[in-house]
Amino acid sequence: MGQSESRYQDFLDALGKDRLRRHLTDAAAKDARTLQIDGRTYVNLASNDYLALRFHEALAARVGEWAHCFGAGSGASRLVTGNLDLFAGIEHKVAALKQKPKALIVASGFQANASVLQALFDRRAIGAEPLVFADRLNHASMHFGCQAAAVRQIRYRHLDAAHLSELLEQHAADDRPKFILTESVFSMDGDEAPIAEIAGLAHAHDATLIVDDAHATGILGEGGRGLSDCADIVVGTFSKALGSFGAYVACSTTVRDYLVNRCSGFIYSTALPPPVLGAIDAALDLMPGMEQERAHVARLAERFRVGAAARGYDTGASTTQIVPIIAGSADAALGLSAKLRAAGFWATAIRPPTVPQGTARVRFAFTAAHDAADIDRLLDVLGGVAAPTTAKIGSA
Ligand SMILES: Cc1ncc(COP(=O)(O)O)c(C=O)c1O
Repeated sequence: MGQSESRYQDFLDALGKDRLRRHLTDAAAKDARTLQIDGRTYVNLASNDYLALRFHEALAARVGEWAHCFGAGSGASRLVTGNLDLFAGIEHKVAALKQKPKALIVASGFQANASVLQALFDRRAIGAEPLVFADRLNHASMHFGCQAAAVRQIRYRHLDAAHLSELLEQHAADDRPKFILTESVFSMDGDEAPIAEIAGLAHAHDATLIVDDAHATGILGEGGRGLSDCADIVVGTFSKALGSFGAYVACSTTVRDYLVNRCSGFIYSTALPPPVLGAIDAALDLMPGMEQERAHVARLAERFRVGAAARGYDTGASTTQIVPIIAGSADAALGLSAKLRAAGFWATAIRPPTVPQGTARVRFAFTAAHDAADIDRLLDVLGGVAAPTTAKIGSA
């Protein structure tokens, strides 16, 4: 096996010592509200299936129908023979939803950010290393895309448009292509970027604004459109509120053509299979009409935030269906998560490097499958546990 094996083991041991080692937990799920682990049923507070579409009959029906009619797989990458005509209809729906001229479907949100950003920042195409201004809490996949393009990010403080403005001013005389990169809703904080303000800065500095709308699409914005209206390029995923898998880029015709030619994750990966496309298609049909579900989820999250604050917990700057309880140390986050588990709630401890040092947390995600009684029972449990004694840390 060579000497690498023992080095990996040492690495794992060091993670274990710092309470940062991760383990897979076998789980089963038969509905959107609960999950079963080791024979016990928990209320699932850790899923991104915000509209509870994962178990919707319309998705299951179209999955079955498209598998039956069009096959279990697509057979090749889209540039070979995998560009099934099913894609065109879905891309049309996504472009309309995102109010952009075109859309392109890719395999996953991670792959989209990893390979779309790499392609967009390719200095051979744009003639110089771009200047990429990025929120410092952007998702790992966005960092990965920047790294793959060998771009040194210019990071601004989380959600801080004034800091971004300062940094843009400092580089005002630099005529290299500029990009601004942010999530609309941050996955571990549930807070929202000031997109309109950022778009104004992008416009003033002739920068291209790229927004990852993963946690807003389907659940926030008018008709579930997300919060990326002012972006030049939107990246998002079907794996969260839309209940299945796969991702998209919504953009201009030129950018779409460029990605078809330069985006390695698109070119060198097999096209999504028809059953997955069926799930996406059905979710896109249902989602605009799910206003009641969106309002329900927003109310649940607000009920939780108010109740948690009243019990002394720090929920950061969350305004959405994602609500963290900031615990501080990895130990404190793990301890709180374990107490919730003992009471029948599954909410995951999120530790560095996913979040910055000192801001380990338990992340709660509310969905259309939960109800007010779930929240009240959860708050009762939290009321019986001492809140972590961190000073208000926030997330920056
Ligand atoms: C902001 C953001 N972008 C991208 C992704 C990756 O999406 P996917 O799960 O479809 O790979 C995630 C999910 O973890 C995310 O939170």
